[in-house]
Amino acid sequence: MFEANLTLISVTSMRAMQRPPLVDRYGRVHRYLRVALTDRCNFRCRYCMPLEGVAWQAKAEILTLEELEVLVRLFARLGIDKVRLTGGEPTVRRGYEGLVKALAAIPEIRTLAMTTNGWTLAESAGTLRRHGLSLVNVSMDSLDPERFRAITVRGELDRVLTGIESALGAGLEVKINCVVMRGVNEDEIIRFVEHFADCDVTVRFIEFMPFEGNRWDRADIYPYAAMRRDLEARFRLEPLETDPSAVGKDFRIEGCRCRVGFVTSMTEHFCDGCDRLRITSDGYLKTCLFGREEVSLRDLVRSGETAEVLEEAIRRALERKWKGHPDLATLPQLPNRSMIQIGG
Ligand code: GTP
Ligand code: 5AD
Ligand code: SF4
Repeated sequence: MFEANLTLISVTSMRAMQRPPLVDRYGRVHRYLRVALTDRCNFRCRYCMPLEGVAWQAKAEILTLEELEVLVRLFARLGIDKVRLTGGEPTVRRGYEGLVKALAAIPEIRTLAMTTNGWTLAESAGTLRRHGLSLVNVSMDSLDPERFRAITVRGELDRVLTGIESALGAGLEVKINCVVMRGVNEDEIIRFVEHFADCDVTVRFIEFMPFEGNRWDRADIYPYAAMRRDLEARFRLEPLETDPSAVGKDFRIEGCRCRVGFVTSMTEHFCDGCDRLRITSDGYLKTCLFGREEVSLRDLVRSGETAEVLEEAIRRALERKWKGHPDLATLPQLPNRSMIQIGG
């Protein structure tokens, strides 16, 4: 997969040289890279994809899988040890399974994960596990087939549930991502826990976040405090030790095998522990999910720049990373891309 004629050959010359870690002005060490493989998706979730559609990126704009691999190898030299494949929907990118195999073989990458809508998991889970994927996060916002269809427009609940079973059967660690929106699905929180009670999964309830074109309204957030109150009226939650860089606050539930987590970006942000960088499918480095300031790594790779020049560009971008995303009054007004173009 690694094409020898790529001009970024000096990545290989860095092989023996472990570089200093990627640290920003606030002392945060960055070890986690989220890589979007495409801006396309076979679903049309309202909170992610703008109603009016998006201008799809042309093939020539998108990083080839070889370019992506080169970039991930470079980041691995810079201390990245966890990579997550995102999209759009990563599984619609032709050749993604081969990329999983290639990235899993990079010695520094200790965790290779993917966030998916689960549409193809039933067929692919075993292969992905054998190729070295270890974690899969599956988006699922309703357990009611009709509501699931209304939210995803093109999705089918049963097929995704079967995909989750296949992922567990294949030995993948599984998290369920449920974006909770007031008036849409907040009445299903308890049902989610009951449904997955005997499964070895973490069900994560996510506060609804604003992105370009997703018709976000502050009133549609169902806040963490309300989610906890609802769950604690029924279950006993015990906090689990979580990594300070994690986006979720995780809990064990008495009497259940599943765990729950809360992703509270809107009411209790977790930017202080942020260790994440992102590459969009068109090759831009984003230092924050909400930051529009982006650096084109694709253009540097394509113009034949050396690994040293790329490293310098990455470190300069990181120096400008903000301490935390702006508050709720400012955030929706900031220019950003749509979620489908960022990948979460
Ligand atoms: P794990 O590695 O399993 O913890 O997954 P993850 O939470 O890093 O990734 P996933 O793609 O499952 O994302 C879950 C939710 O967290 C999504 O709503 C993401 O948009 C959100 N998320 C991920 N990273 C960040 C971040 O840096 N900031 C904020 N505010 N939200 C994030
Ligand atoms: N707010 C919060 N989470 C979102 N996701 C997609 N759009 C939003 C949003 N507006 C989540 C999906 C997916 C993950 C990558 O991001 O649930 O699992
Ligand atoms: Fe597609 Fe996932 Fe976005 Fe839904 S949340 S439109 S499944 S990328």
